[in-house]
Amino acid sequence: MKVNVHYSNLHLDELYFSGKTSVVIDVLRASTVIVTALANGAREVIPVGTVDFAMKVSGNAFGGQTILCGERNTKKVEGFNLGNSPSEYKPEIVSGKSIILYTTNGSRAVVKAKFSENLFICCFNNLPAMAKHLLALNKDVEIICAGTNGNFNLEDAVCAGRLIKEMEIENPDIEISDSGKASLVLNKDFGKTIKKMLKETEHGKLLSENGFGADIKDCAEFGTTDLIPFYLSGAIKKLEAGTQNNPVNENKSS
Ligand code: MLT
Repeated sequence: MKVNVHYSNLHLDELYFSGKTSVVIDVLRASTVIVTALANGAREVIPVGTVDFAMKVSGNAFGGQTILCGERNTKKVEGFNLGNSPSEYKPEIVSGKSIILYTTNGSRAVVKAKFSENLFICCFNNLPAMAKHLLALNKDVEIICAGTNGNFNLEDAVCAGRLIKEMEIENPDIEISDSGKASLVLNKDFGKTIKKMLKETEHGKLLSENGFGADIKDCAEFGTTDLIPFYLSGAIKKLEAGTQNNPVNENKSS
């Protein structure tokens, strides 16, 4: 089993992912929002690559069951129902709803990897469960850090390193690419106090400046849920307990 890390997806073609098992990480804040929304009862999260497409999808949806969510420059997009703070995704607001999510980097990274055979979403909240699930799946893994505007960011790289570390503890034989080894070093150096690390990143500082400093605490929570979000046919849903793989692949192997 080989684990590889991409610190940006800008250089990758969508078709690179076909047949691959991929994990998208956008700690601040899209992957944390996706995990929170599903944990609080959202039916699904529909990631989109542009605000226009978000509007189009919501225009075709049944009223009341769909909410438009996400951010531009960290702030709620005009006309959207929710921004990109995990605390906004309360059970009474998201339960049973389809969430159309546009974010600057995270939702777009998921869309980029949509041809993956298995596509999962990870943040610190669900990281131990994600590590266990990937080990059980026993396939080569491509970790995609959403990064910031096509560039490296520290928080996603540290999260990738922590994910690999958790996997390596259980299976010391996993093969780790050079970029994966670099993420392990970053996790060792910066990952001891997740909240402090997040606060001191460029994006963490921007969030604080823009009034979203409280989100950092939510994004730093480690292993608070076993929820595994997986993408299938345009939507991210919660993997039901006891399911090894996503439903499409179970069908393929049966
Ligand atoms: C993104 O996708 O770029 C983010 O999640 C940004 C944010 O929430 O501030």
